[in-house]
Amino acid sequence: MKYFIHTYGCQMNVHDSEKIAGILEEMGYSLCDRVEDADIVVFNTCCIRETAEQKIYGHIGAIKKLKRINPHLIAVVCGCMSQQEGAAQRIRESYPFVDIVLGTSNLSLLKEAVEAAQRKNKFYNVDFVPYKEEDFAQARSSYPNGWVNINYGCNNFCTYCIVPYVRGREHSRPLDDVMAEVHRLLDEGYKEITLLGQNVNSYGHDLPDGVNFARLLREIGQLPGKFRLRFMTSHPKDLSDEVIDVIAQYPNICNNIHLPVQSGSTEILRRMNRRYTREDYLSLTEKIKAKLPDVGITTDIMVGFPGETDADFEDTLDLVRKVGFSSAFCFVYSRRKGTPAYNMEQLPYAVKKERITKLIATQNEVTKAISATMVGNRFEVLVEGENSRYKDTMCGRTESNRLVNFKCDKSLVGRFVWVEIERAGSATLWGKVVAEEK
Ligand code: 5AD
Ligand code: SF4
Repeated sequence: MKYFIHTYGCQMNVHDSEKIAGILEEMGYSLCDRVEDADIVVFNTCCIRETAEQKIYGHIGAIKKLKRINPHLIAVVCGCMSQQEGAAQRIRESYPFVDIVLGTSNLSLLKEAVEAAQRKNKFYNVDFVPYKEEDFAQARSSYPNGWVNINYGCNNFCTYCIVPYVRGREHSRPLDDVMAEVHRLLDEGYKEITLLGQNVNSYGHDLPDGVNFARLLREIGQLPGKFRLRFMTSHPKDLSDEVIDVIAQYPNICNNIHLPVQSGSTEILRRMNRRYTREDYLSLTEKIKAKLPDVGITTDIMVGFPGETDADFEDTLDLVRKVGFSSAFCFVYSRRKGTPAYNMEQLPYAVKKERITKLIATQNEVTKAISATMVGNRFEVLVEGENSRYKDTMCGRTESNRLVNFKCDKSLVGRFVWVEIERAGSATLWGKVVAEEK
């Protein structure tokens, strides 16, 4: 029996798919490369933007044909899209060949659901049924990096964002559970730990004994052995001085912060309910740069939020140049039903399109300028694996999270090497290995 998983969206979903894979493997399924060979196909979905959602519904529709060829094929839809209000009903009516619908917080029901589907029963459940990660095996797929959830959900209610509605209220995983998983990963030879949460900086506010994110970083940072610690995502309003100081203090913690800004205009930030101003963000990033030399600050930015004027947009471009992000995920605002911004007056598509093109071009210039300063210098890189886009080329990341391509033996995956950068496209860096870890 074989399984295939389509994963859409963010790292949170990538990691949830490792849990899904773990559950299916315990049930006797094994991974296959082609969806056509599968006995069970899982869609782990995302609904952050409309484009994502439309694409996924298209892919789910295609399963109808596969089911005609293999009537025993079990189709599962889970994750953020199925958790939206009315989505389970919509799937039931328009995609009746789907056997199982689960939400974001009830993966613990997957085994029971698959057993029901094997008996030809439908299983639709999007209730909140909290589970402990420790209850399942995980089939990890991202060695040498191991993802570790530290908190779930979000309480921020940015006015454009669907996440708080589909991922529920914020809650932290107990410190001991997080530490046990980190120890396990390091014992198994993982060389990079990435802590995951919608808002990692508010980790612990709902736990006893004054546990907070800085304390968690310290506990992991002081563990012996060579490894890297990363985390995402930070909310600018909650990133404390204490956290910046801890990053500076422990060499294992990467000088890299993903700090979504969304907009460079104070008025738009206010309408987004981000709870910081343009000036707050600029002084925060100045402080980070002063305390963490060579830091890579990455971000998410949106254009075309309701009411965004030309002047607001210029403020965004100006902020992009001032901060000098090492990379930025740039998005066109997408109207999401159920969010406050849905009811605001929307901008025409042509305006959004023109702005996203300009934004991407501006960020590319910034990235290119940073890349140029890297040429001729040496960086420590953790070898991740082959870069599937180029033949016989391996890749890995610098501490600041820039991807570097180079040639080396495949046996070096999971090892640290020093790479001298020889040339740079705008975002892509090419180099040669000059020293290996002993
Ligand atoms: N439209 C466009 N982008 C969005 N994001 C979140 N909600 C929306 C939306 N409605 C972006 C934000 C966030 C990233 C994960 O996705 O920039 O940081
Ligand atoms: Fe969405 Fe804002 Fe929460 Fe991030 S902080 S998940 S953008 S509501």
